Amino acid sequence: MILYKKNAIVTGATRGIGKEIALRLAKLGANVAVCGRDEAQLIKTGKELSGFGTKIILKNGDLTEKGFARNFVEDSAEQMGGLDIIINNAGMSFTRPFKQCTEEDIDTVLTLNVKVPFTVCKTALPYLLKSTYAEIINIASVTAHKGYPEQALYSASKHALAGMTKSLAAEYYDKGIRIHLISPGGVYTDMVALARPDLSKEELILPSDVADVAEFILTHRTNSVIDEIEMHRANKQPFI
Ligand SMILES: NC(=O)c1ccc[n+]([C@@H]2O[C@H](COP(=O)([O-])OP(=O)(O)OC[C@H]3O[C@@H](n4cnc5c(N)ncnc54)[C@H](OP(=O)(O)O)[C@@H]3O)[C@@H](O)[C@H]2O)c1
Repeated sequence: MILYKKNAIVTGATRGIGKEIALRLAKLGANVAVCGRDEAQLIKTGKELSGFGTKIILKNGDLTEKGFARNFVEDSAEQMGGLDIIINNAGMSFTRPFKQCTEEDIDTVLTLNVKVPFTVCKTALPYLLKSTYAEIINIASVTAHKGYPEQALYSASKHALAGMTKSLAAEYYDKGIRIHLISPGGVYTDMVALARPDLSKEELILPSDVADVAEFILTHRTNSVIDEIEMHRANKQPFI
């Protein structure tokens, strides 16, 4: 019941991990606002979400287009009457030999994977500060912690997202906002099918496994999942 009538936003929920988390949140009783570029898939997600009887908001468009991310957050907050939970999920993978990567490529990857979560967090924070149950989950990747060949730009973007998340988590801990990073390995979605066609479903994490982790975090507020923050507050070795 803890998520009943909480107001949540999930970026990029027309398929994959975002859709699975959005469905889980609605199933647990939360109102959910979702977005994506593929209108037909967005409507399909909306129909599935409305089966749980909570308030559902659909916003069709591109998060990297000027103003879209900010409007999505503000409109959702106004329509739902506030915000409690933000899931920064939308992202792109990028696999290319480093010598072929261009400055345009790094702009594209950093814009969606870092600048969009930045804008979403920045726009959502005034609403979250009014919530008694404020949570942000940013979806990074194992590449936020390790380096793999031909993934320098993707890895750079996820390392940046991890850094921003850790710093924000420390900055807003005392203000009551819990901010987390989930860093999955390969998950069975369209993205991994494109990036790693050599992997089969049996070798991969399922989107529902990531939704399980998100549910655990959201339903176990203030326990060991914020351990890094506790270490920081106690002036022990922080985030290395
Ligand atoms: N799959 C993996 O193996 C894996 C592993 C670790 C981390 N991750 C991370 O998990 C997140 C989700 O990945 P996924 O595998 O579920 O990806 P996916 O199947 O490609 O789905 C991505 C979602 O984001 C939306 N999206 C992408 N670009 C967008 C844009 N510019 N504006 C609005 N929406 C946009 C897509 O909707 P539209 O196309 O309709 O816009 C879609 O709903 C990403 O951040 C990814 O980096 C994935």
